Amino acid sequence: MNILIIGSGGREHALAWKIKQSPLCKNLFVAPGNAGTSLVATNVPIAVDDFSNLGSFCVENKIELVVVGPEGPLVKGVRNFFADDERLKNILMVGPGRDGAQLEGSKDFSKQFMLKHQVPTARAKTFYSHQTKEAQEYLSALQPPYVLKADGLAAGKGVVIAPTLAEAKEAIREMLEEKKFGDASAKVLIEEFLDGIELSVFVLCDGRHYVILPEAKDYKRIGDNDQGPNTGGMGSVSPVPFADKAFMKKVEERVIIPTVNGLQQEGIDYKGFIFIGLMNVKGDPFVIEYNARMGDPETQSVMMRIKSDLAELFVACAKGELKNKPLEIDPSVALTVVMAAGGYPDHYEKGKVISGLDQGKAQVFHAGTKSREGKIISDGGRVLAVTGKGNDIGEAIANSYETVQKITWENSYFRKDIGQDLLRLSK
Ligand code: AMP
Ligand code: GLY
Repeated sequence: MNILIIGSGGREHALAWKIKQSPLCKNLFVAPGNAGTSLVATNVPIAVDDFSNLGSFCVENKIELVVVGPEGPLVKGVRNFFADDERLKNILMVGPGRDGAQLEGSKDFSKQFMLKHQVPTARAKTFYSHQTKEAQEYLSALQPPYVLKADGLAAGKGVVIAPTLAEAKEAIREMLEEKKFGDASAKVLIEEFLDGIELSVFVLCDGRHYVILPEAKDYKRIGDNDQGPNTGGMGSVSPVPFADKAFMKKVEERVIIPTVNGLQQEGIDYKGFIFIGLMNVKGDPFVIEYNARMGDPETQSVMMRIKSDLAELFVACAKGELKNKPLEIDPSVALTVVMAAGGYPDHYEKGKVISGLDQGKAQVFHAGTKSREGKIISDGGRVLAVTGKGNDIGEAIANSYETVQKITWENSYFRKDIGQDLLRLSK
């Protein structure tokens, strides 16, 4: 079959790399893609939210399956657009409609959903733009640190964790009154702080049934030892040692089943990924957030561990046939190190020539890259995601960094400590 992946990051390169291995896949396209996706697929210069051109492309190229990578087009309703068009409505799609994507698109919606369907989560209260004073009074009654969340999509930057009451009061004022995150912070949630270790759990859902994919840990901060500002993610590891059978059983019973059943009860026919950001609080899972897509750079580690045919799973997902679908997982450890442009997540430069690709053993997924005159150049903040494998975490670290050390461009940056916390735990 002909397959189209929508997106242009490391996540999409990893999805393309894996789908390309399926005997079901005839022609693979990525819109708009990057220099890495062009190695395994044909890039199509159409923006992720240009639904009308994406639709025409699908008709002209007899696309039978569309896989949506990022949240933007999901929240904007790419599934609804296809469903409403006679020519497109029979194309299979992995990615929920506008209704399901609200799990990610509105933190207020997802909080109310969790409360209603008894999914364990932090207590929270929502405030609107005219309620700065009430919000500040509410903060005064809480203990530090304070968690403030803009309701809407804010490119991963909408969460503020304020260590003192004064900072929290100022932050809420900036969010509500000055619209620090634009319309995304027209509503803000003040949430109880959860103290624990985070992990990302991924579920492929067909509306009624689900398959649990390998879990992963993300390294969100820019600096070693989790210092500095939040980023989209600077590294990932799968599996996560503390996500043992007992913990994952709690996750399935307390979180995944009520979530999938809750979606059905709400009349949401959810066909796509549910990315569950969890906090392990003394052995119990609490949901921090849902996303309606896979994580980046978690996908890169997760794809390296899935042995089953991904295209076959996606078709089953889109057709509502995931029941009893087996998933074969490689027990080895996959570890991703993100190589970024120096200065990311703030100001950084693009257009630097990258050298040393193809010299190491690890798989190099491209994120922000493009080809120019036969060379590969940097074209974003997160540029590459280098994923190595090993029989244990130590070996995976060694294999990934061996490849990372061979790749250079002017002012490149990467964290040196991806996986070190898990290595310490394993000793
Ligand atoms: P989010 O954008 O929802 O992923 O949040 C960004 C980060 O803020 C998360 O990855 C957590 O590290 C942290 N965070 C969010 N909510 C909470 C909470 N209730 N307690 C502690 N940390 C949180
Ligand atoms: N790595 C976190 C995310 O994709 O949201």
